[in-house]
Amino acid sequence: MKVSIASDHAGFKLKKIVLKNLITDGYDVLDRGTYVEVSCDYPDFAEKAAYDVVDGISDFAILICGTGLGMNYAANKIPGIRAAQCCDLYSARLSREHNNANVLTFGARIVGDGLAIEIVNTFLKSKFQGGRHQVRIDKITSIENKYINFKRV
Ligand code: RB5
Repeated sequence: MKVSIASDHAGFKLKKIVLKNLITDGYDVLDRGTYVEVSCDYPDFAEKAAYDVVDGISDFAILICGTGLGMNYAANKIPGIRAAQCCDLYSARLSREHNNANVLTFGARIVGDGLAIEIVNTFLKSKFQGGRHQVRIDKITSIENKYINFKRV
């Protein structure tokens, strides 16, 4: 399984820990930055890693900033992305089983290293259940398509 990962300066240290763990667990990981712990703008890195998913280069992306929220907002602007903000294991599991999330976001200033690794493991191992959940995902996609060229009049 291929996983893209990215962070801003606030998520940089935790990204290194998560990345190392993913490699140890046998995942094929693509590091989309940031590569130095210098103040930077999270949307630049969210876009790179999340685009890997819609482009089919990666199966999932993991985005880490201070809270995870900015990364989440940025990733969810890309059509086809369903980015889930998960700072607990229940959300991590359900974001996959029910919402078929393809991007995981969380905050390095919110979760500790151990919990972050558990969240990532839970997210990547959980499987989408389909069925009634697919109907709801299709409705999300319909909203996306409806507003993709939307211009306020
Ligand atoms: C950076 O200070 C911080 O704003 C960023 O990492 C993130 O938390 C934004 O959502």
